[in-house]
Amino acid sequence: MPDEKRLSGRVALVTGAAKRIGRFVALRLAAEGADVAIHYGRSEAEARDTVHEIEKLGQRAIAISADLTNVAQIQNLIDQAVSHFHRLDILVNNAANFLEAKFGSTTEQSWDASLDTNLKAPFFCAQAAAPHLAKSGKGIIVNFADIGGLLGWREFLPHSVSKAGVILMTRILAKELAPAVRVNAIAPGTITMPGDPPEWQTDFIRRAPLRRTGRPDEIADAVLFLITAEFLTGQTLVLDGGRSLFPDLRT
Ligand SMILES: NC(=O)c1ccc[n+]([C@@H]2O[C@H](COP(=O)([O-])OP(=O)(O)OC[C@H]3O[C@@H](n4cnc5c(N)ncnc54)[C@H](OP(=O)(O)O)[C@@H]3O)[C@@H](O)[C@H]2O)c1
Repeated sequence: MPDEKRLSGRVALVTGAAKRIGRFVALRLAAEGADVAIHYGRSEAEARDTVHEIEKLGQRAIAISADLTNVAQIQNLIDQAVSHFHRLDILVNNAANFLEAKFGSTTEQSWDASLDTNLKAPFFCAQAAAPHLAKSGKGIIVNFADIGGLLGWREFLPHSVSKAGVILMTRILAKELAPAVRVNAIAPGTITMPGDPPEWQTDFIRRAPLRRTGRPDEIADAVLFLITAEFLTGQTLVLDGGRSLFPDLRT
């Protein structure tokens, strides 16, 4: 009987995959037949739990820690994943922070904290992973942007700049790494997790055309689409319930 799983035989590395969106993505890729390296920063127990859940799906998994602001640790992360699985086909640059800083209150430290984790880290993950992804024959990078990177939140100035950088970096990497590796991005709107308080569905979210926040399983579906859409590269998929159609809802 033919194996209908779309990612059978492929190895993925998902950064920030111990919990929340990254965990959903990792489990979705495993459900489609991928073996998965679970990167984590501080959430070791949650990372081990994600590994366990993937093993229950019949796939292999490993948890690897790295501070993504440190390029040497990024190289070590990629090396460990490849040495464990002997290949790397999919890199999902999910890890990020979300730091509030307005024009007047932005410090060198808060600027660097946003840019280092959200933009520098995915770049150096891509650079370290590229030789392995190129050997795959179906190499793919999925970067995580944010609709703040399109609209520009004044309250999250460095964050918005970092995510705008991710969108442009996605286009440049797509040119640089073609045809061996495709590079796409996803720009989510507000995503709420199971169990989040209902009041988090605040006014500006409810006024978005689809009148709700997104779910992490919807992000995982979209990441799987970006991975499997073989004629797609350099693109950013905006998944926000239409919120970016009304940019003045939060300026
Ligand atoms: N949630 C939303 O509504 C939303 C909206 C738009 C875009 N996004 C994007 O979607 C992605 C996932 O969102 P999320 O809310 O699930 O993310 P999150 O919980 O804020 O962060 C994911 C993980 O990133 C890791 N991380 C952060 N800085 C790190 C560092 N310097 N070194 C190593 N690991 C680091 C953390 O791992 P540890 O816990 O192991 O330390 C954290 O658990 C992000 O790129 C985010 O910008 C999310």
